[in-house]
Amino acid sequence: MKTPKGLEPLIDDGMIDAVVRRLKSGKEASVYVVACADQLRCAKVYKEAEQRGFHKLAQYTEGRKTRNSRDQRAMGRRGRHGRRVEEAEWKNAEVQALYRLAAVGVRVPVPYLVHEGVLLMELVRDAHGAPAPRLNEAEISAEQAREWHAFMIGQIVRMLCAGLIHGDLSDFNVLLDAHGPVIIDLPQAVDAAGNNNAFAMLERDVNNMRAAFGRSAPELLTTEYAREIWRLYEAGDLTTASVLTGRFARDETAADVDGVLDHIEEERHAAAERLRRRQEADAA
Ligand SMILES: Nc1ncnc2c1ncn2[C@@H]1O[C@H](COP(=O)(O)OP(=O)(O)OP(=O)(O)O)[C@@H](O)[C@H]1O
Ligand SMILES: [Mg+2]
Repeated sequence: MKTPKGLEPLIDDGMIDAVVRRLKSGKEASVYVVACADQLRCAKVYKEAEQRGFHKLAQYTEGRKTRNSRDQRAMGRRGRHGRRVEEAEWKNAEVQALYRLAAVGVRVPVPYLVHEGVLLMELVRDAHGAPAPRLNEAEISAEQAREWHAFMIGQIVRMLCAGLIHGDLSDFNVLLDAHGPVIIDLPQAVDAAGNNNAFAMLERDVNNMRAAFGRSAPELLTTEYAREIWRLYEAGDLTTASVLTGRFARDETAADVDGVLDHIEEERHAAAERLRRRQEADAA
């Protein structure tokens, strides 16, 4: 096919030999199958900020470390330099997350490089070598759904143990290769420790997986993994070996309302008594 503009620099610089076809043009990026020597790879061309508009950036990038304090201040001021830094950070965030996650055994495409706003990575494929389908397109059995749901909960835990939350995990961002689920689309990955929205993002990711697999295995719909995972994480006890139940014990001991009211009443008496004594003393 004709080389899309965004991929020209990679052709010119010899990083890819040819563009085979476009896989998808989404809100945030266009994704292509490209040839590199005798291999097929995947190239993701990010759109510029004005065209993206979906992720409210600040919500995700809170707590992310920027390279130097001048850049940090510029981002705070939101001037032109700040926006450029922010843009570069966004485009680098995905490859950084991919490296970090691949290193701890999360199933993600192998990243190769980022060049001129393009991420070059492994092409995830199905058993026949074709680009892998998304989870939302797959018809799966109840048994398969239970197995993959458990696997994805394990992957979410693994990510969190590495300090990251996907932040946009859904059945659109999980591909199915010959061995099972592969997680993609990570430019918005959230730094779990430094972000005030971390739990909300984790909960949404976990519940999106519950909904996706719950379509084939409805018993999954009553599971509650997010709070259980988060409680262990916050206590510093979460490991990839943590045993999870999918049930979260809320504190259901009825609040002792009568006890509290009695206590207030006693305090009121005591205060009235103190006041009476002070008035008596003043009068004397
Ligand atoms: N490494 C890969 N291997 C195979 N297919 C891929 C790969 N990366 C992305 N795709 C395909 O391209 C689509 C878009 O990729 P991705 O989700 O990363 O970008 P996106 O623009 O953020 O998408 P959207 O905005 O629709 O969520 C994916 O749904 C998938 O079908
Ligand atoms: Mg996507």
